[in-house]
Amino acid sequence: MANLKTLSAPLLMACLSIACSAQAEKAENNYKKYCASCHGGELQGGLGSSLVDNEWKYGASDADIARVIEKGIADKGMPAWEKTLTQDDIRALIIYIREEGASAKVDAQLKSVQPQGGIFSTRHHKFKLEKVIDGFGVLWGLEFLSDGSFLLSERDGKLWQVKGKQKTEITGIPKVWAKTQGGLLDIAIKEPSSENPWVYLSYSQPSAKGAMTAIVRGKIKKHQFVDSQIIYQAAQEFHTDKGYHFGSRIVLDGGYIFFSVGDRGDRQQAQDLSRPNGKIHRLHDDGRMPTDNPFVNTPNAVKSIWSYGSRNPQGMVMSHDGLLWEAEHGPRGGDEVNIIEKGVNYGWPLISYGMNYDGTAVTNKTSAPGMAQPKHYWVPSIAVTAIDEYTGSAFARWANHLLVGSLARQEVQLLEVKGGEVISTELLLKNQGRIRDLVVGPEGFIYLAMNPDNQKGSGVYRLVPVTSM
Ligand code: HEC
Repeated sequence: MANLKTLSAPLLMACLSIACSAQAEKAENNYKKYCASCHGGELQGGLGSSLVDNEWKYGASDADIARVIEKGIADKGMPAWEKTLTQDDIRALIIYIREEGASAKVDAQLKSVQPQGGIFSTRHHKFKLEKVIDGFGVLWGLEFLSDGSFLLSERDGKLWQVKGKQKTEITGIPKVWAKTQGGLLDIAIKEPSSENPWVYLSYSQPSAKGAMTAIVRGKIKKHQFVDSQIIYQAAQEFHTDKGYHFGSRIVLDGGYIFFSVGDRGDRQQAQDLSRPNGKIHRLHDDGRMPTDNPFVNTPNAVKSIWSYGSRNPQGMVMSHDGLLWEAEHGPRGGDEVNIIEKGVNYGWPLISYGMNYDGTAVTNKTSAPGMAQPKHYWVPSIAVTAIDEYTGSAFARWANHLLVGSLARQEVQLLEVKGGEVISTELLLKNQGRIRDLVVGPEGFIYLAMNPDNQKGSGVYRLVPVTSM
């Protein structure tokens, strides 16, 4: 039973994102059919060793495990499977084994992240989770203005300004295609402390053919979005009525705008430079095309492409040391964190640590020449969304590390980074709600746009440090 609870969320997501019938879960079925008799129904071991205790007598890497499964260990009674199972089957089995191993660990961790008397204790800090305001539909973006108020986007197509407990709708934003995962998405503010700063919005721009991600900017005057300019829109031929993988995070930096567009459910198009989906784009922040973009001289390429081979990048942040970190909602077992660099191919769907939600392989390759490796990946997937760098002083020990939020697994994790590498992760929050966005507020508190587990609506919550007790 260990895996029933943890599998239900990814399988449910599969039903949203892929045509889902009562399809058998392939990797799990293969395990039951070929392996469970010796390794146990819950991978706990029997005639064969436990596959969830994180002890690997014959090597711990994916390649080591693949070799054992293919060739067997004749003198110990482990059969060779290379004639029975395909490379893809073996790859999917390894991801399944990794998922189960991680779930066993998470169950143990769960206890440690339960609040005691409303106080959460982590390695370096204690905090409370406070409600700021609720009563919203599905939220997507959260961004602070310099007066301490913040803007909040509701995916259905509403933009709000929240000051204290007061929320006011900002009118005059473009019409959005609000279906399944599409709608009004991210918000970014250029130089928030300047007078009347530019406010950038990403959204699913509707057309007769469906929608594609577009970027608009405007100014907010008397609760109206005015002086609006389209910064980016895709040609109509690229619009699609598939309702998923919009990506859509915006980063403003040094006069440029970076924004992500997910693969929109056509995974092979992430490798196609003549299409905007499955890419990170870069423009001047007034919409002009930079002449030094990597594919400006490539025939038929979309000139705004900065990097490619992405699935559904829902988190992006520029760190203090100038690294563009991206969190990518991957397939099952393939959520990633990458550092985005000019012209680089991140490999989706040719390489991936994950598999399809039905337990079939996407690919049996996790690496290939000319394709970048993630800085971190999650097996099982946590359904990673937002990423931010901690820059405040309220949680001093987290300074310059990364925070990520997740949907299905309802987690906030701290990723400790050093010199552009993720060196460790820590679970900070678990099972409090689905996290849509996560930003560090002006006082250094951590704000979450979150859909609490037990409620229909969404709201803004914050992590507030608890010091002396
Ligand atoms: C007939 C019994 C049997 C079956 C069926 C079987 N195994 Fe094994 N397996 C073993 C034995 C025995 C070992 C070696 C244990 C030892 O040396 O400690 C082993 C070892 C392994 C190891 C290496 C573990 C380590 O510590 O490095 C892996 C991985 C593994 N099996 C996976 C599988 C998979 C996947 C399947 C199904 C496709 C499978 N096994 C089916 C008996 C079996």
